[in-house]
Amino acid sequence: MRILSVFGTRPEAIKMAPIVMALRALPGVESRVCVTGQHRRMLDDTLAIFGVKPDDDLDIMTGDQTLAEISARVLSGLDPIMRSYRPDFVLVQGDTATSTAAALAAFFNKVPVGHVEAGLRTGDLMSPWPEEANRRLTAVVSNRHYAPTDKARRALLAEGYPASSILVTGNTVIDALLHVADEVTAPGPVRDRLGARFDWLDAGKRMILVTGHRRESFGDGFIRICTALRELAKRDGVQIVYPVHLNPNVRQPVFDYLANVPAISLIEPQDYRSFVYLMTRASLILTDSGGVQEEAPALGKPVLVMRDTSERMEAVEAGVARLVSTDPARIVGHVSDLLDDPRRYAAMAGGANPFGDGRATARIVADLLERAGVAPLHVPARPKPAIAVAAEA
Ligand code: UD1
Ligand code: UDP
Repeated sequence: MRILSVFGTRPEAIKMAPIVMALRALPGVESRVCVTGQHRRMLDDTLAIFGVKPDDDLDIMTGDQTLAEISARVLSGLDPIMRSYRPDFVLVQGDTATSTAAALAAFFNKVPVGHVEAGLRTGDLMSPWPEEANRRLTAVVSNRHYAPTDKARRALLAEGYPASSILVTGNTVIDALLHVADEVTAPGPVRDRLGARFDWLDAGKRMILVTGHRRESFGDGFIRICTALRELAKRDGVQIVYPVHLNPNVRQPVFDYLANVPAISLIEPQDYRSFVYLMTRASLILTDSGGVQEEAPALGKPVLVMRDTSERMEAVEAGVARLVSTDPARIVGHVSDLLDDPRRYAAMAGGANPFGDGRATARIVADLLERAGVAPLHVPARPKPAIAVAAEA
């Protein structure tokens, strides 16, 4: 069985890495990896952490690229690979321009598509933009829908996809996180190295970790987020750490507004291991990221989502995330509430992670083998039940 995995951005690489690592160890499976290079540095950093070496690299990234440019380059770059390699299955992940264009390239060549992280919906095509449309477009041309949660499965059923085409797997981000979190939390050289690298973190202060990059927040949204961060930086006993995404539409307002604020450390995007370490050191996380919304609850960290909508409402419903929009007053109000009220903090930090048990990859791989007529694999229990990161009071 020939499986072609296609991805191009940081979050896709993190979420596909466990699958690529599992496929390459399987006899009878030829696994090929094509990266589009929609992200360059942030993709390469992730590939290095997981030891994934692509077979093909379309290397498409340009500065401040448009959605049409990315999509056109992915489609035309993948078409000859589909025709010459003739995979039995193409795997794509999530909702980026890469994943949608790759699914289309497979469809145009009549190659079946497996969609990892299928069925996430806000119901609003403009939020997140363009990701909501990307997910829906990818679903239409997918043969197998790997839904991370039962809520995602129900969304697909409501759109008319047959139950037999949907499998609830959990999110592979939890598989990736477990892989890395064990390393960064266990006493040993990795934790020591990270401790030395981040020796400027003030153990006497509560750290707020921030990320943000959504296209629908460019302009006013980012100015509101920066206004909130400047206000929070005035609190005593707080250190704000913000790895700034490489998108120029993010970097400009963030550096303009926050570069000289003493309690705020603007740093470069971190490799995945370092970022997971920072999450474990944080008191709480402010983000608009999809992946971080999924990871924070698994680490026992309250997460405040700086968006108007989320396709990951499982976390809000489980009480481990709050949707706080980009409104400065709401952001500051919710952060203050959590930092000032140990009971409400503990309730959020102690909630359950709704996004998976670390065995999503095994379920997806077993399903692919079943498609190929190979006996399904037994999905083994993970030896370690959970990540042990103490929640702060
Ligand atoms: C993309 C995805 C978004 C995903 C996000 C994860 C689309 C439409 N958007 O958004 O769904 O949540 O990735 O981070 O697919 N850049 C670099 N180096 C890098 C990465 C980016 O310089 O390693 C800069 C470039 O100027 C590039 C720009 O960022 O043109 C935008 O990258 P792009 O992938 O188009 O958009 P993101 O905002 O990263
Ligand atoms: N991440 C990382 N380094 C950083 C910031 C985030 O490795 O400096 C990881 C994070 O742990 C998560 C993923 O990148 O797994 C999320 O990516 P991003 O926020 O760019 O995209 P989204 O998930 O919103 O699509």
